[in-house]
Amino acid sequence: MWLYSLLPGLDLKAVPFLGNIFNIDTKKPHIYLTKLGDVYGNVFSMSLGRDKMVFVTGYKMVKEALVNQAETFASRPHSPISERVYKGYSGLFMSNGLPWKKLRRFTLSTLRTFGLGKNSMERVICEEIRYLQEEMEKEIGGAFYPAAILNNAVSNIICQMVFGKRFDYGDHKFQTMLKYLNEAIRIEGSPWGRLYEAFPMLMEHLPGSHNTMFNQYKILGEFIQEDVERHKQNLDPSNPRDYIDTFLIEMENPQHSKEDVFQETNLVMCCLDLFLAGTETTSTTLLWALIFLIKHPEIQGKVQAEIDRVIGQSRQPNMSDRPNMPYTDAVIHETQRMGNIVPLNGPRMASKDTTLGGYFIPKGTALMAVLTSVLFDKTEWETPHTFNPGHFLDQDGKLKGREAFLPFSAGKRMCLGEGLARMELFLFFTSLFQKFSFSAQDGLELSMEGTVGATLTPLPFKICVKAR
Ligand code: HEM
Repeated sequence: MWLYSLLPGLDLKAVPFLGNIFNIDTKKPHIYLTKLGDVYGNVFSMSLGRDKMVFVTGYKMVKEALVNQAETFASRPHSPISERVYKGYSGLFMSNGLPWKKLRRFTLSTLRTFGLGKNSMERVICEEIRYLQEEMEKEIGGAFYPAAILNNAVSNIICQMVFGKRFDYGDHKFQTMLKYLNEAIRIEGSPWGRLYEAFPMLMEHLPGSHNTMFNQYKILGEFIQEDVERHKQNLDPSNPRDYIDTFLIEMENPQHSKEDVFQETNLVMCCLDLFLAGTETTSTTLLWALIFLIKHPEIQGKVQAEIDRVIGQSRQPNMSDRPNMPYTDAVIHETQRMGNIVPLNGPRMASKDTTLGGYFIPKGTALMAVLTSVLFDKTEWETPHTFNPGHFLDQDGKLKGREAFLPFSAGKRMCLGEGLARMELFLFFTSLFQKFSFSAQDGLELSMEGTVGATLTPLPFKICVKAR
């Protein structure tokens, strides 16, 4: 029986047919939804077009949904955008049930084979850092936009694992891929994306940015398909070079039926997911790190003092330095907390009837566990809105874990790339501040405002860099 009405639906003026879709502050939906949680309680619902979505806020209720009821909320809801982009397949991010389990297991084990959690991955990242440092050196003496080169450098790590190669920062195809990726993610989280999710049949016939997004995803898919073709030409089944090779080999496994997830179109979609998830996230976190440390030069100075004491200037940082650098580690954690780069989390769906916070949630209901409300939960953090590495340090200055630190989400669908991202963040961050000092242009204040798409990205900003 449909007891959904027991859930507090918001007393907001809903537009007939569109529901609450335009009530959501499009510039800061994550802040708006967090505030609604404060007013209406930690579980509430809204109509977004035809469908209702349940929003969950605050650390305790998010944990209840994603961890205590992990199995119930392990699925993703139907998404018309994904359906069109993934061409009837579901890639990795939007897949459900057995196909998702198979792909997640396969992807994790393949990423491990190609270095995840191993020294070989560390070497790949350190090599990329040397290219990045060379690029940064060219900018000494002037002001520059750091976003593009950080994006290039970070993307090359996932490219090595998926495509088996890195791209030169001047490579035209690579630049186009990154540009389309950034724009498509932004449009997906914009009102155009939201309208398409709510009214796909109608929006398909209307002009608007959603058409640009679909075109960009299509071109990205075509780029990847070209690479898959190249892999097929010189595939050696006994010697896979990367994710694409391993997937192609798995496709030939006689145990899989024709309907199995291991199909070429799905390979392209999984590569798109990994490229997307592995590029934008870590590089955006590094951009926030630059902003926070430029705004807090005293913290930048303390990080550099720890780097000089533990690593010095004559060698590159490595992962075995991390346990000896609690202050730097705490600053990276605090950057992830305040940077809040996946502010709304990935969408989830109840795979069976359940109750949450005393409210009945029927099977098939879409749910959003708002990560912003966890990373800024005032019952969990001493100074939620102030950049404070002390959140992650105990009285002796040692690194302290915090339960409400969930930038990678929690439960069964939590980020598959957490290990890789944490390694990248530590090595990129320490290497940058080892070799350089960063500041704003004279007389200019950096903005803490961001643009919300699928990720929360700082507004474009220029900075100055000095060699140390
Ligand atoms: C700072 C960096 C990163 C952050 C903050 C981050 C955060 C997240 C979040 C919040 C989700 C949604 C989880 C959910 O629905 O509960 C997610 C999913 C995912 N992430 Fe990340 N991520 C990062 C880096 C990466 C990297 C480097 C990869 C590359 C391997 C990656 C691959 C994925 C994949 C494949 C999923 C979907 C998992 C699934 O549906 O089973 N992420 N990430």
